Amino acid sequence: MAEEKKFGPAGGGDDEPRRTSGTGNAATPSSGSRAAAAAPSSGSDAAASPSAPGKRSGIDFRNFMPEHINKEITRRYNIDKCEIGAGGYGKVYIAKDRHFEDRLVAIKKVVKHDAQKTAAFKREIQIMKELDHPNICKLLETYEQGRFMFFVMEYCEGREVFDRIMDTGLIEEGVTSDIVKQVSTALKYAHSRGIAHRDMKPENVVFC
Ligand SMILES: Nc1ncnc2c1ncn2[C@@H]1O[C@H](COP(=O)(O)OP(=O)(O)O)[C@@H](O)[C@H]1O
Ligand SMILES: [Mg+2]
Repeated sequence: MAEEKKFGPAGGGDDEPRRTSGTGNAATPSSGSRAAAAAPSSGSDAAASPSAPGKRSGIDFRNFMPEHINKEITRRYNIDKCEIGAGGYGKVYIAKDRHFEDRLVAIKKVVKHDAQKTAAFKREIQIMKELDHPNICKLLETYEQGRFMFFVMEYCEGREVFDRIMDTGLIEEGVTSDIVKQVSTALKYAHSRGIAHRDMKPENVVFC
Protein backbone atom coordinates (compact mmCIF):
# COMPACT_ATOMS: atom_id res chain seq x y z
CA MET A 1 0.00 0.00 0.00
CA ALA A 2 1.43 3.30 -0.90
CA GLU A 3 1.92 5.66 1.92
CA GLU A 4 3.32 9.09 1.77
CA LYS A 5 4.25 10.32 -1.66
CA LYS A 6 6.13 13.46 -2.07
CA PHE A 7 6.90 15.32 -5.18
CA GLY A 8 9.73 17.72 -5.26
CA PRO A 9 9.19 20.88 -7.18
CA ALA A 10 12.84 20.67 -7.62
CA GLY A 11 14.75 21.57 -10.53
CA GLY A 12 16.92 24.25 -11.62
CA GLY A 13 16.59 21.70 -14.32
CA ASP A 14 13.73 20.69 -16.47
CA ASP A 15 11.23 21.14 -13.76
CA GLU A 16 11.88 24.47 -12.23
CA PRO A 17 8.66 25.64 -10.65
CA ARG A 18 7.21 28.91 -11.73
CA ARG A 19 5.18 31.48 -9.92
CA THR A 20 1.90 32.05 -11.65
CA SER A 21 0.10 35.32 -11.72
CA GLY A 22 -1.12 34.79 -8.21
CA THR A 23 -4.72 35.45 -9.12
CA GLY A 24 -7.51 33.09 -10.01
CA ASN A 25 -5.57 31.35 -12.72
CA ALA A 26 -3.03 30.21 -10.19
CA ALA A 27 -5.00 27.01 -9.93
CA THR A 28 -4.24 26.12 -13.52
CA PRO A 29 -1.04 24.21 -13.91
CA SER A 30 0.84 25.52 -16.84
CA SER A 31 1.25 23.16 -19.68
CA GLY A 32 4.32 21.15 -20.23
CA SER A 33 6.75 23.75 -21.36
CA ARG A 34 10.25 23.09 -20.28
CA ALA A 35 10.84 25.25 -17.30
CA ALA A 36 14.51 25.91 -17.28
CA ALA A 37 14.31 28.57 -19.88
CA ALA A 38 11.00 30.00 -18.91
CA ALA A 39 10.85 30.67 -15.28
CA PRO A 40 10.46 34.36 -14.72
CA SER A 41 9.38 33.83 -11.16
CA SER A 42 10.66 37.17 -10.06
CA GLY A 43 9.12 39.36 -7.50
CA SER A 44 6.61 41.41 -9.42
CA ASP A 45 4.15 38.57 -9.72
CA ALA A 46 4.63 37.64 -6.12
CA ALA A 47 3.91 41.11 -4.96
CA ALA A 48 0.69 41.09 -6.90
CA SER A 49 -0.50 37.93 -5.24
CA PRO A 50 -3.32 38.35 -2.77
CA SER A 51 -2.07 35.26 -1.03
CA ALA A 52 1.54 36.29 -0.98
CA PRO A 53 3.36 33.66 1.02
CA GLY A 54 5.13 34.50 4.18
CA LYS A 55 2.65 37.17 5.16
CA ARG A 56 0.57 35.06 7.47
CA SER A 57 1.46 36.47 10.83
CA GLY A 58 3.84 39.33 10.57
CA ILE A 59 6.78 36.95 10.93
CA ASP A 60 8.33 35.87 7.67
CA PHE A 61 9.19 32.25 8.37
CA ARG A 62 11.14 32.02 5.13
CA ASN A 63 13.89 33.97 6.83
CA PHE A 64 14.60 30.99 9.05
CA MET A 65 15.78 28.74 6.24
CA PRO A 66 19.56 29.02 6.29
CA GLU A 67 21.37 29.94 3.08
CA HIS A 68 25.08 29.34 3.63
CA ILE A 69 27.60 31.07 1.43
CA ASN A 70 31.16 29.71 1.19
CA LYS A 71 30.62 27.29 4.02
CA GLU A 72 31.91 23.75 3.68
CA ILE A 73 28.85 21.51 3.48
CA THR A 74 30.79 18.36 4.42
CA ARG A 75 31.46 19.77 7.87
CA ARG A 76 27.76 19.31 8.55
CA TYR A 77 26.80 16.46 6.22
CA ASN A 78 28.42 13.17 5.40
CA ILE A 79 27.42 12.80 1.77
CA ASP A 80 27.20 9.33 0.29
CA LYS A 81 29.25 8.71 -2.83
CA CYS A 82 26.43 7.04 -4.72
CA GLU A 83 23.72 9.21 -6.16
CA ILE A 84 20.10 8.36 -5.51
CA GLY A 85 18.77 10.38 -8.39
CA ALA A 86 19.69 12.65 -11.21
CA GLY A 87 17.79 15.35 -13.00
CA GLY A 88 18.41 17.81 -15.77
CA TYR A 89 20.93 19.89 -13.86
CA GLY A 90 22.08 18.02 -10.84
CA LYS A 91 22.64 14.82 -8.99
CA VAL A 92 20.98 13.95 -5.71
CA TYR A 93 22.74 12.16 -2.87
CA ILE A 94 21.66 10.84 0.45
CA ALA A 95 23.60 12.28 3.39
CA LYS A 96 23.88 11.88 7.14
CA ASP A 97 23.68 14.87 9.40
CA ARG A 98 26.84 14.88 11.53
CA HIS A 99 24.93 16.66 14.28
CA PHE A 100 22.22 14.00 14.50
CA GLU A 101 23.46 10.58 13.40
CA ASP A 102 19.99 9.21 12.63
CA ARG A 103 18.96 12.11 10.51
CA LEU A 104 19.10 11.53 6.77
CA VAL A 105 18.68 14.23 4.18
CA ALA A 106 18.78 14.36 0.39
CA ILE A 107 21.25 16.79 -1.11
CA LYS A 108 21.03 18.00 -4.67
CA LYS A 109 24.29 19.33 -6.08
CA VAL A 110 24.09 21.63 -9.07
CA VAL A 111 26.69 23.56 -11.01
CA LYS A 112 26.34 27.29 -11.51
CA HIS A 113 27.23 27.23 -15.19
CA ASP A 114 26.42 30.86 -15.82
CA ALA A 115 24.62 33.85 -14.38
CA GLN A 116 21.32 32.85 -15.92
CA LYS A 117 21.46 29.41 -14.39
CA THR A 118 22.52 30.79 -11.04
CA ALA A 119 19.56 33.16 -11.08
CA ALA A 120 17.25 30.26 -11.92
CA PHE A 121 18.57 28.24 -8.97
CA LYS A 122 18.03 31.21 -6.68
CA ARG A 123 14.47 31.58 -7.89
CA GLU A 124 13.94 27.91 -7.24
CA ILE A 125 15.18 28.37 -3.69
CA GLN A 126 12.80 31.26 -3.08
CA ILE A 127 9.88 29.25 -4.40
CA MET A 128 10.73 26.07 -2.49
CA LYS A 129 11.05 28.08 0.69
CA GLU A 130 7.46 29.08 0.41
CA LEU A 131 6.09 25.56 0.21
CA ASP A 132 5.23 23.70 3.36
CA HIS A 133 3.04 20.70 2.68
CA PRO A 134 3.23 17.02 3.68
CA ASN A 135 3.35 15.89 0.07
CA ILE A 136 5.96 18.35 -1.09
CA CYS A 137 9.57 17.65 -0.42
CA LYS A 138 10.81 20.31 2.00
CA LEU A 139 13.88 22.41 1.35
CA LEU A 140 15.79 22.67 4.62
CA GLU A 141 18.82 24.76 3.79
CA THR A 142 21.17 25.63 0.98
CA TYR A 143 24.93 25.95 0.57
CA GLU A 144 26.83 27.84 -2.07
CA GLN A 145 30.47 26.90 -2.54
CA GLY A 146 32.38 28.16 -5.53
CA ARG A 147 30.71 26.85 -8.66
CA PHE A 148 28.38 24.57 -6.75
CA MET A 149 25.06 24.98 -5.05
CA PHE A 150 23.65 22.40 -2.70
CA PHE A 151 19.98 22.00 -1.88
CA VAL A 152 19.56 20.18 1.42
CA MET A 153 16.13 18.59 1.41
CA GLU A 154 14.01 16.30 3.45
CA TYR A 155 14.85 12.78 2.30
CA CYS A 156 11.80 11.22 0.67
CA GLU A 157 11.99 7.48 1.07
CA GLY A 158 10.70 5.31 -1.68
CA ARG A 159 11.24 5.32 -5.35
CA GLU A 160 10.29 7.30 -8.37
CA VAL A 161 6.96 6.39 -9.90
CA PHE A 162 8.89 6.20 -13.17
CA ASP A 163 11.18 3.42 -11.90
CA ARG A 164 8.27 1.54 -10.50
CA ILE A 165 6.46 1.61 -13.83
CA MET A 166 9.62 0.52 -15.64
CA ASP A 167 10.07 -2.41 -13.25
CA THR A 168 6.57 -3.73 -13.17
CA GLY A 169 4.94 -2.35 -16.28
CA LEU A 170 2.09 -0.85 -14.34
CA ILE A 171 0.98 0.37 -10.95
CA GLU A 172 -2.28 -1.07 -9.75
CA GLU A 173 -5.36 1.10 -9.87
CA GLY A 174 -5.81 1.58 -6.12
CA VAL A 175 -2.22 2.70 -5.63
CA THR A 176 -2.41 4.93 -8.68
CA SER A 177 -5.48 6.70 -7.36
CA ASP A 178 -3.74 7.22 -4.02
CA ILE A 179 -0.72 8.73 -5.75
CA VAL A 180 -2.86 10.98 -7.92
CA LYS A 181 -4.83 12.10 -4.89
CA GLN A 182 -1.74 13.03 -2.93
CA VAL A 183 -0.07 14.75 -5.85
CA SER A 184 -3.27 16.66 -6.59
CA THR A 185 -3.44 17.82 -2.99
CA ALA A 186 0.12 19.06 -3.21
CA LEU A 187 -0.49 20.83 -6.52
CA LYS A 188 -3.65 22.44 -5.22
CA TYR A 189 -1.70 23.78 -2.27
CA ALA A 190 1.07 25.12 -4.51
CA HIS A 191 -1.42 26.71 -6.87
CA SER A 192 -3.20 28.39 -3.98
CA ARG A 193 0.12 30.08 -3.29
CA GLY A 194 0.56 31.14 -6.88
CA ILE A 195 3.10 28.48 -7.79
CA ALA A 196 2.87 26.01 -10.67
CA HIS A 197 5.15 22.98 -10.87
CA ARG A 198 5.32 22.93 -14.67
CA ASP A 199 6.94 19.55 -15.02
CA MET A 200 4.80 16.95 -13.38
CA LYS A 201 5.93 13.53 -14.53
CA PRO A 202 6.59 10.12 -12.99
CA GLU A 203 10.27 10.95 -12.44
CA ASN A 204 9.32 13.78 -10.14
CA VAL A 205 7.03 11.80 -7.90
CA VAL A 206 8.59 9.61 -5.23
CA PHE A 207 6.57 7.18 -3.20
CA CYS A 208 6.95 4.22 -0.95
N1 LIG B 1 14.31 14.90 -1.47
C1 LIG B 1 14.49 13.80 -2.20
N2 LIG B 1 14.43 12.58 -1.64
C2 LIG B 1 14.64 11.47 -2.38
N3 LIG B 1 14.94 11.49 -3.70
C3 LIG B 1 15.01 12.68 -4.31
C4 LIG B 1 14.80 13.89 -3.61
N4 LIG B 1 14.94 14.93 -4.46
C5 LIG B 1 15.23 14.39 -5.64
N5 LIG B 1 15.28 13.03 -5.57
C6 LIG B 1 15.61 12.10 -6.66
O1 LIG B 1 16.52 12.74 -7.55
C7 LIG B 1 15.94 12.91 -8.85
C8 LIG B 1 16.38 14.25 -9.44
O2 LIG B 1 15.96 15.31 -8.59
P1 LIG B 1 15.21 16.58 -9.16
O3 LIG B 1 15.06 17.49 -8.01
O4 LIG B 1 13.97 16.17 -9.87
O5 LIG B 1 16.28 17.15 -10.16
P2 LIG B 1 16.04 18.01 -11.47
O6 LIG B 1 15.33 19.22 -11.03
O7 LIG B 1 17.41 18.29 -11.99
O8 LIG B 1 15.18 17.18 -12.38
C9 LIG B 1 14.44 12.79 -8.62
O9 LIG B 1 13.80 12.35 -9.80
C10 LIG B 1 14.38 11.77 -7.50
O10 LIG B 1 14.55 10.45 -7.99
MG1 LIG C 1 13.36 16.15 -11.77
